[in-house]
Amino acid sequence: MSPPDAHFWTERWAEGRTAFHQPDKNALLVAHLDRLPKGRVLVPLCGKSHDLAYLRDHERPPFGVEVVEQAVRELFEALGVSPTREGDLVRGAGVSVFLGDFFAPTLPALAGTFDGVWDRAALVAIDPSAREPYRDRLLTLMSHGGTLLLATFDYDQDLRAGPPFSVPDDVVHGLFGPHGTVERVAQHAGTLPTPDGTAPVMENVYVFVKR
Ligand SMILES: C[S@@+](CC[C@H](N)C(=O)[O-])C[C@H]1O[C@@H](n2cnc3c(N)ncnc32)[C@H](O)[C@@H]1O
Repeated sequence: MSPPDAHFWTERWAEGRTAFHQPDKNALLVAHLDRLPKGRVLVPLCGKSHDLAYLRDHERPPFGVEVVEQAVRELFEALGVSPTREGDLVRGAGVSVFLGDFFAPTLPALAGTFDGVWDRAALVAIDPSAREPYRDRLLTLMSHGGTLLLATFDYDQDLRAGPPFSVPDDVVHGLFGPHGTVERVAQHAGTLPTPDGTAPVMENVYVFVKR
C-alpha cells in the first residue's frame, strides 16, 4: 500500500503533525446533525476528534475506526476515562473505537449495522486509488436507507499534494451516485496552506442515502 498508509499516519501522530485535529467539534457536523438519524454513527478514520463526544451527547453513540494507537489513547485521555479493551475494540465514556485499519477483514462483521456515518477528513485523507475500496467498505457497513454525512475539499490539486486530497463534485457523484441519492447541502469557501502560501478551497457537505 502506498502512502498515506498506517506508517505515514503513525509518524504524523508521533511528530505532532496533526493540524487536521480541530480544537472543538466540527461546525459542519453541528449545522447538519439533523441529517444523521439517531442511533449508532460510524466515524471512519476518527483520529481523536471531539465530534465523537458531540455525537454521543446527541443520541448518536459513535463507533470510530482509527489505525494509530496514540490517537486512540489521546482520544480517551481527552474524554477523561480509562477505556476497556477487548481485542481491537476500545470502549469508554459512551464511545467505541475499532483500533485498526478501516480496510481490515474483521470489520465486515459489522455489516449493515450503521444507519449513520460522519465522514470528516476521512475520504479526503486516503489515497485516490483507495477511494472505491473505501466507498465499498462504507456501503458494506451502512444499512439500507442509511445516511452518510460527508465533508470534502475541492481545490486545484496542482497547487499542493494531499492529504487532504481534493475530492471534486463529480468524483463524489461518481462514487456514490450509483448506490443511492447524493445531494450537496452546503458549500463554504476557504483556504488551504500550500508551499507558496494558500490555495482557495471549497468545503462541500453532502448527504448520501444508500438505496
Ligand atoms: C486527516 S485525519 C482526520 C481525523 C478525524 N476525522 C478528524 O476530523 O480529526 C485521518 C485519520 O485517519 C487515520 N487513518 C488513516 N488511514 C486509516 C485507515 N486505513 N484505517 C483507520 N484509520 C486510518 C489517521 O491515523 C488519522 O488519525
